[in-house]
Amino acid sequence: MTDLVFQKCINPKCGGTTSLADTTFRCPRCGGLLDVAYDWNRLPVPKSLKHFEGKWANRTNPLDFSGVWRFRELFPFAPDSAIVTIGEGQTLCQRADAVATYAGLNPGRLFLQYEGMNPSGSFKDNGMSAAFTHARMTGATRAACASTGNTSASLAIYCAAMQSMRGIIFIGSGKISYGKLSQALEHGALTLQINGDFDDALRRVREVSQQLGIYLVNSVNPFRLEGQKSIMYRVLEALRWEVPDWVVVPGGNLGNVSSFAKAFSELLDLGLIARVPRLAVINAAGANTFYELHEKHNLRWAGGQFDQSKIDGYYAALDATSRKADTLASAIEINRPVNLPKALRSLDRCNGVVRSVPDVEILDAKAKIGAGGLGCEPASAASVAGLRMLVREGVIDKDERVVCILTGHVLKDSDETVAYHSADQATFDAKIGKRGVKSVAFANRAVPVPNDLAAIVKAIEQNA
Ligand code: F0G
Repeated sequence: MTDLVFQKCINPKCGGTTSLADTTFRCPRCGGLLDVAYDWNRLPVPKSLKHFEGKWANRTNPLDFSGVWRFRELFPFAPDSAIVTIGEGQTLCQRADAVATYAGLNPGRLFLQYEGMNPSGSFKDNGMSAAFTHARMTGATRAACASTGNTSASLAIYCAAMQSMRGIIFIGSGKISYGKLSQALEHGALTLQINGDFDDALRRVREVSQQLGIYLVNSVNPFRLEGQKSIMYRVLEALRWEVPDWVVVPGGNLGNVSSFAKAFSELLDLGLIARVPRLAVINAAGANTFYELHEKHNLRWAGGQFDQSKIDGYYAALDATSRKADTLASAIEINRPVNLPKALRSLDRCNGVVRSVPDVEILDAKAKIGAGGLGCEPASAASVAGLRMLVREGVIDKDERVVCILTGHVLKDSDETVAYHSADQATFDAKIGKRGVKSVAFANRAVPVPNDLAAIVKAIEQNA
């Protein structure tokens, strides 16, 4: 008899498995990525998604209050007593007509899933609460990650809340925004600045975690992705359990897209939904490995027999030309996405596409999202910029129902926002212009006014 919960190689041809408690996060047979797998036939599964509606009302139970754990029957790997929660996942799925119009959709067709409302200000908390729960189950006392900023902020806040876990973060030097760095420092994580970028930091943290037996919380950890499935459950809940036509998500290390497709495949297999949505992953043009491989080199999942030589060849070419990831959307400035094989499987399951958008389109989309009433960071806005591109191409119809995931809060990266709206060329150039963006479309410039009542009144009458 198999265990109720175990870890399983994503490659069906390999079939390697390992125990729930294994924290190496590599298939013991082939070294590949793992899924958390469940023997659903022996687990209590709700008959309908409506089952979850009553849970939120029970706000006195922290597990039902959490926007992650009230869905815990859909990732039942932990006993209630082990669960680590800080009230994550109280997020909003908001209809956004002004942004829909900008992207080319008809009113009522676009919803923004605003994950900036999480305790650390990004979607990462959904996964971190799950990873920390697993860490606690395995008796870990130290947790580490490499990060472009948000994972480290989330790790730091969970360590601080738990007190019994020491956090260690690896960041590329000069690569993360001050908002995110300040969170890691404020919450007390040991912060190591590596002379390199995210891809270098991730390689090092994997080595170090293995050598020192430190619990790794990057998205190569399949337990983190179990928590991120709840983002899709909340989307479905907000849409009264109707599956949208598309989910559009920024792509960095490709954990989200992998987790979303797993959520939908499982719901389909369990008979809880009748179809899966299509997925669109949006890369920044300066960090577009997934786009290049999937759309240009035609790399496909092929039942797990994907052509590794295409990936190796692509990385060799990056090395040969010393090409490093380079985008203003620093959260997704990643050239070697660790979940690439899972993401290929995800697109296969959900008939997905990948697009690559230039920084200027990301920043303009971000300003439109902000003007529409939700503040997000640049990486998040890639979703709307990508949606606009897909509508323009005719891939997404203007009457289809679309959910874009806003992954992080606007205050994460305020320097870029101020520079975008600044009338001062030096401020603009220091943050944006030096990265090749010449001009932006939706700047809301501050108006300089003398300290004089009549002049102030005049400025208001002229401008508002
Ligand atoms: N959006 C934001 C705001 C992010 O911080 C990240 C990833 C992504 C999108 C990409 O998500 O990796 O699931 O494709 N940030 C990681 C970090 C890499 O270290 O904070 P993904």
